[in-house]
Amino acid sequence: MEIKERLISGFEKYFGSADGTRLFFSPGRVNLIGEHTDYNGGHVFPCALTMGSYALVKKREDKAMHFVSLNFEKAGVTGAFLDELDPAKKYGWAGYLLGVVWAMQKAGYKIDTGFDLAMWGNIPSGAGLSSSASIEVLMGTVIKEMYGADVSMIDIAKFGQKSENEFCGMNCGIMDQFAVAMGKKDNAIFLDTADLSFEYAPVVLKDAKVMITNSHVKHSLVDSAYNDRRRESSEALADLQKELEINGLGDLTEDEFEAHKNLIGNPVCVKRAKHAVYENQRTVKAVAALKNNDIENFGKLMNASHVSLRDDYEVSCPEVDKLVEIEWKIPGVIGARITGGGFGGCTVAIVKNSSIDEFKETVLSEYKKETGIDAEIYEAEIGDGARELK
Ligand code: GLA
Repeated sequence: MEIKERLISGFEKYFGSADGTRLFFSPGRVNLIGEHTDYNGGHVFPCALTMGSYALVKKREDKAMHFVSLNFEKAGVTGAFLDELDPAKKYGWAGYLLGVVWAMQKAGYKIDTGFDLAMWGNIPSGAGLSSSASIEVLMGTVIKEMYGADVSMIDIAKFGQKSENEFCGMNCGIMDQFAVAMGKKDNAIFLDTADLSFEYAPVVLKDAKVMITNSHVKHSLVDSAYNDRRRESSEALADLQKELEINGLGDLTEDEFEAHKNLIGNPVCVKRAKHAVYENQRTVKAVAALKNNDIENFGKLMNASHVSLRDDYEVSCPEVDKLVEIEWKIPGVIGARITGGGFGGCTVAIVKNSSIDEFKETVLSEYKKETGIDAEIYEAEIGDGARELK
């Protein structure tokens, strides 16, 4: 296995003998529909990918935790000591992993010694495919398997989110970590974030494929813009709660929202709440459509999701809007939209098998012509969640 050899030689270069190391994998994810609904008590519909992050790990005898990423070797080895983790400190990319160690220690899990960890991954970073959730859940899986932590994969997802929220300062919801921890080959996860109830739904399309296109654009201040959206949604909710007994925007139907939106003071927050309510309902409808093999309707709901993310939630950007418009014009495209947190990143599209070649050619050439940027296209292969590879 080529990846394993790469990890072994990287491990030996930085940490010495790789005898006794163990190998772990944690996927990335793509969300099919249900965007910015997860911190609003709504539904999401993501799936784990076969692309992901790998780690080769060996326990140490002391309390040091050492990390090296073979994708960023120039950054060298980084790390921290077990009893000195502090959310107020900055740890760079290792913070996502250290935050999980910190969260699990705080919850009472015993991690008695440190470890050396060499990582490599093939999820494009900053593309909205959850490279950070992937490494968080990777760390949780290492602790579960190597330190005998009696912890469920759902709890590992929660520790990943806690790491990101409280250790790394990004106020994300639970979708990414949940999808990465609980992924299942050929299935998407229909998750109700209000209570974490979920069901798997097969995504085996007869005549079409799920295609991911990387715009190769990542706008700065993504985390702070994300946190702003989250705050605006909460403000809208608080206004609505003055008269309505609801726990989240996901509790409302479209009609209930329209009848009460005048309670929301700030017009920007009205738009944010509108997106959250309608997107949640779209997600429920889309999963029903998929179950009925009504892929055309699924596609229409994806298109409407994009328009809402662009106009009401305002988390798209000109380059990704261009990309989606190019995709919409291709006759074999059943639906297309921005996926993930936004402000750049990837689109997800459902494309008829007979149009895949045309899709690739047209998207790459038109996008280059319009923006000067080379996009990259991947066929989504839906895989299993995080695990040890034996
Ligand atoms: C990011 C966050 C998720 C979710 C999406 C938007 O990926 O990590 O929790 O909010 O954005 O749907």
